[in-house]
Amino acid sequence: MGSMEDYPRKQTHYPLNSTRSKLKIVFLLVSSNLLTIYFFSSLNPLGIRWSENGPRIHLWDFDSLRRELNSSRTQVAELHRRLATSNSLLETLLTELGRVHGDRPSPDDLDGWQDKLSGELKLAFGPHKLPFGFTSQLGSDELFPSLGFACRGFQDELTQYMRYEIGGECPVDDVFAQRLMLKGCEPLPRRRCHPKTPANYADPSPFPASLWTIPPDTSIIWDPYTCKNYTCLVNRGKAPGSYDCKDCFDLAGREKSRWLHDDGGMDYSIDAVLRLRPPGTIRIGLDIGGGSGTFAARMRERNVTIVTSSMNFDGPFNSFIASRGLIPLHISVANRLPFFDNTLDIVHSMHVLSNWIPEVVLEFALYDIYRVLRPGGLLWLDHFFCVGSQMNSTYVPMIDRIGFTRVRWDAGRKLDRGIEKNEWYLSALLVKPRA
Ligand SMILES: *[C@@H]1O[C@H](CO)[C@@H](O)[C@H](O)[C@H]1NC(C)=O
Ligand SMILES: *[C@@H]1O[C@H](CO)[C@@H](O)[C@H](O)[C@H]1NC(C)=O
Ligand SMILES: *[C@@H]1O[C@H](CO)[C@@H](O)[C@H](O)[C@H]1NC(C)=O
Ligand SMILES: *[C@@H]1O[C@H](CO)[C@@H](O)[C@H](O)[C@H]1NC(C)=O
Repeated sequence: MGSMEDYPRKQTHYPLNSTRSKLKIVFLLVSSNLLTIYFFSSLNPLGIRWSENGPRIHLWDFDSLRRELNSSRTQVAELHRRLATSNSLLETLLTELGRVHGDRPSPDDLDGWQDKLSGELKLAFGPHKLPFGFTSQLGSDELFPSLGFACRGFQDELTQYMRYEIGGECPVDDVFAQRLMLKGCEPLPRRRCHPKTPANYADPSPFPASLWTIPPDTSIIWDPYTCKNYTCLVNRGKAPGSYDCKDCFDLAGREKSRWLHDDGGMDYSIDAVLRLRPPGTIRIGLDIGGGSGTFAARMRERNVTIVTSSMNFDGPFNSFIASRGLIPLHISVANRLPFFDNTLDIVHSMHVLSNWIPEVVLEFALYDIYRVLRPGGLLWLDHFFCVGSQMNSTYVPMIDRIGFTRVRWDAGRKLDRGIEKNEWYLSALLVKPRA
């Protein structure tokens, strides 16, 4: 986690004498005292019905003995649960007192954070006690929310990100949120608000027409994007400017013919790849960085289910994929793939896994693809690109050492930026060997 060093440690401020914190303490004192009274007074507020002198046990009546024991157990569990609530209240009180006294939290208490967590951020990062105590499945008596460790390095941004009305409408800050994700705070911790709904939301087209239909403009919120309608996104391919997956929304353009024709070189066709295996045995897979989902659409037409991972880089890629009736997955290439070992029949990736990714991260990604592919599963590396000198020195050895065997392998020059750049493409079909 070297990146944490790059961020200046935030000065910690404690509200030493603020009226607000004093009031808070008075409130906490009063409420925790009230709670104690509440628990142990004869008002019997917990709704726990203790029998007059404890549970009455009739030894001669096994049925009622069992009932009595069972009801005491339930009552104890209930009491335990409520005491836990008062405990956390007490903990908050002590923390608050500590602040007023100017106690600085020790680094151990901070658990890698720069500041003590509070509010929604604290709740989101848990852990939380399990209501029924220890369970062997979890090996714990607490449930830990699963969140990006790197979140700890960006506490100020995270605090801003977690500032929302619980149960209300989420702020529209997609770009900010996605950047946090890309800095390793993935998955993100915002859970308890409603995403803004588009006014006049229009239902998607029915399948299969949905696969090749541009959705209505009113199906999404446009705030995060430069374009404000689909006409703009569709035309972007022909307009000047550099955008990620620039012509991917133009379904009548280049998208229409992708993967349909095999040129015997670096352009493989889906049908040629599927023919490598008995019919129907390539059924499920993943397209990493699949743009607007056209690979999944073509596979769907061949009864293959493909999940498409995509980032929303200045375009509603995830919404667009979904509107086509395909499954979008909003995860970055740095994320461990959310699939179990030896499960997928095929993984495809075009133009994404390339030399822009740090070598170590790329190697982790390739090993992860190997992990999720089933034995005999295929990795279709589609137009991987790098500089000529890197091909044989770095990437070919890397691909080989992961353990794949080659079925098809085609390297060629990438000429769009000029031959003098000495850029190369590699398309390959790789198999995860069977034992
Ligand atoms: C024990 O009590 C719980 C809840 O009161 C009930 O659901 C359960 O069936 C009882 N078990 C037995 C063995 O009576
Ligand atoms: C789409 O948005 C562009 C600007 O992004 C605007 O010029 C154009 O009029 C809009 N078209 C429609 C049909 O709303
Ligand atoms: C896809 O599955 C449907 C229903 O099972 C079948 O009718 C159709 O022929 C299949 N399409 C292809 C291309 O295999
Ligand atoms: C890599 O090595 C192979 C075989 O030695 C050679 O044919 C190929 O031209 C080399 N590729 C590049 C990009 O240098």
